[in-house]
Amino acid sequence: MVLSQQSDRDRILDATDLVSLVGEHVPLKPRGREHVGLCPFHDDKSPSMAVVTHKGNAFYNCFACGAAGNAIDFVMNFHKMEFREALKYLGQRCGIELRSMRDEGPKDPATSKESLRKAMAAAAKFYQRCLQDDKLGATARAHLDERVLNAQTREDFQLGVAPEGWDHLARHIEKLIQHSANSADKVARESFEALGLVRAGQRGPIDGFRNRLLFPIHDELGNVIAFGARRLDPKDEPKYLNSPDSPLFSKGRTLYALHRARRSIIDSKHAIVVEGYVDAVALHQAGVTNVIATLGTALTKDHAKALQRMAERITVVFDPDNAGERAADRAVETFLAVPVDVRIATLPDGLDADELLQRPNGLNDFNAALEHGEEALSWMVRRFKANLVSVESMSGKQQRLQELLRKLGELGFRSVEPLRKSFVMNALSKLTGVPVRTLEQAMPQARAEFKLNTANATPTPPAPIVQEPPSSPRAKARRMAEQNLLAAIMADPHAAQVRVQAGQEGLLPISEAFSPEHFQRTDLRELWNLLVMRFESGTSFHVQDIQAECQEPSLKALCVELFNIGSQRNENMDASDAVRNAAADFDKFLHDANMKQTVTNVMNPEDALARLEQVRRGGHNPSAIAQNMRNLNRTETIAKASADQS
Ligand code: UTP
Ligand code: MN
Repeated sequence: MVLSQQSDRDRILDATDLVSLVGEHVPLKPRGREHVGLCPFHDDKSPSMAVVTHKGNAFYNCFACGAAGNAIDFVMNFHKMEFREALKYLGQRCGIELRSMRDEGPKDPATSKESLRKAMAAAAKFYQRCLQDDKLGATARAHLDERVLNAQTREDFQLGVAPEGWDHLARHIEKLIQHSANSADKVARESFEALGLVRAGQRGPIDGFRNRLLFPIHDELGNVIAFGARRLDPKDEPKYLNSPDSPLFSKGRTLYALHRARRSIIDSKHAIVVEGYVDAVALHQAGVTNVIATLGTALTKDHAKALQRMAERITVVFDPDNAGERAADRAVETFLAVPVDVRIATLPDGLDADELLQRPNGLNDFNAALEHGEEALSWMVRRFKANLVSVESMSGKQQRLQELLRKLGELGFRSVEPLRKSFVMNALSKLTGVPVRTLEQAMPQARAEFKLNTANATPTPPAPIVQEPPSSPRAKARRMAEQNLLAAIMADPHAAQVRVQAGQEGLLPISEAFSPEHFQRTDLRELWNLLVMRFESGTSFHVQDIQAECQEPSLKALCVELFNIGSQRNENMDASDAVRNAAADFDKFLHDANMKQTVTNVMNPEDALARLEQVRRGGHNPSAIAQNMRNLNRTETIAKASADQS
């Protein structure tokens, strides 16, 4: 796998002329042996980017912002593509088939991606020609005229028509097969069948789409991979038909018009999502080019992932009917835990974007609606409120609330940024009269326990002396105590300066009062290690500082979760007092469980050295190593002390 990517990478770099690649994206001028142009990666006023090809491996370099790299880097950065995608993009550009992309095994060549792509392209071309045809395209052209989609737009979006009749495409395909039989462009009937474009009828093959206006759906590289087909006869059902999923096309992953909107989305950092093909096309025609459409499905996690890479803000425009509102609900849910600013825009007078644009001043109205887009969480709260109104009884309301909390928990609400989160919690609290803290507690976690990447985890410390059954009330209370301590610390910016009463040892800086093995939950232990590093610098800190040091997303989420718990407890108490109280609580547990002895009662130097060895094997995690060093010093001191005594 890695090998084949390596050689794909080298072959692609060899075959790509960097000057012409970059030149396709920004104007370049020769200067000496190099080429220069405005850097597309920052707001460049005078040409700061050079493309250098005379020093072995070609590279680009911006002396102003430091952007630099080879052809693959350029494509990844310019188009916000992942490595594989960028390879595909470049491979297609210079006609290299990626080894690692080749269809595996001796499958039917007619259904290889390559053949399917060829078939799709041939069909799209045929449908486009039909739209030009005097007779075959007349109805579709009249429909497009009426909807004011002009010639340029028809061309840009490669609109076409599947003419009325049974076998226009089928007959065209038979001709193609005959003509291409001995050429490199050979096509096979099976390819078209696999794509749902034709199928076997009683008297020979018949067309999949008949008497429909066709919206080709493209992948990100601009290949046609499917069709959305609108009826031309109002009596036909359904109104829209889509190509079936195929090796080229997966409905839940594809966004219509993304190949044309991509650049504009990246530049404006804003993506507008609409529901209909026509809405997307009409908006592009009106100059709103950062628009894409879903394909009659809800927004999926895959969509969210793709959009998040390109945009900081996503505005979801849905039809103001019930179906549209439910779709908006699902969009809000899909994006809940994704760190982008999501807004829901509702267009005036129950119109969809295309209808609105037909009105005088329509574009202004559309832009105004965008500006008044409602923040996703506010939308969610408002919908919940509307939902509550219809419920009479108190228990009914409680049930709705519980349903919502459960859903929020499952969707990862705990990892939502604290400000947005407290907005929702306060709003729900106000609506239901339930205190925020109770709401927080009623919300289940997305996953029961945060898992750690074991490769980076702190080494497992010696087993605690007293093992308690994990589910005993005592064990639960103990786990609460350790969690509460970290929550209190997270919510106290000055925790580093806090000294706590630790059993008979008297007042100790918090960093010395506990050690990692005191924490039973591995994620809490990991966090403790990070905190100790902070404590030692003695400076104040905020939850963000600790978060920044966490590598695991689950740990980052845990920081915020603890911070929220801690801040809520602190409402009536000084934050540092809260730390002292929580520390005293936890300390008591440790003493009762004899846990403190693992540190203070190391028997003899051999044991101590054995433990040292264990600590040294700590791995590469800097915070773990730092903590190990501290343990080590302490253990050595204890070992020395007991050696002196004997
Ligand atoms: P709408 O029914 O809102 O139609 O479907 P529209 O986009 O306004 O269509 P026009 O303006 O009358 O041509 C919105 C989207 O839902 C999907 C399609 O993707 C459509 O663009 N849809 C709709 C289907 O997949 N199947 C259907 O039968 C209807
Ligand atoms: Mn419409």
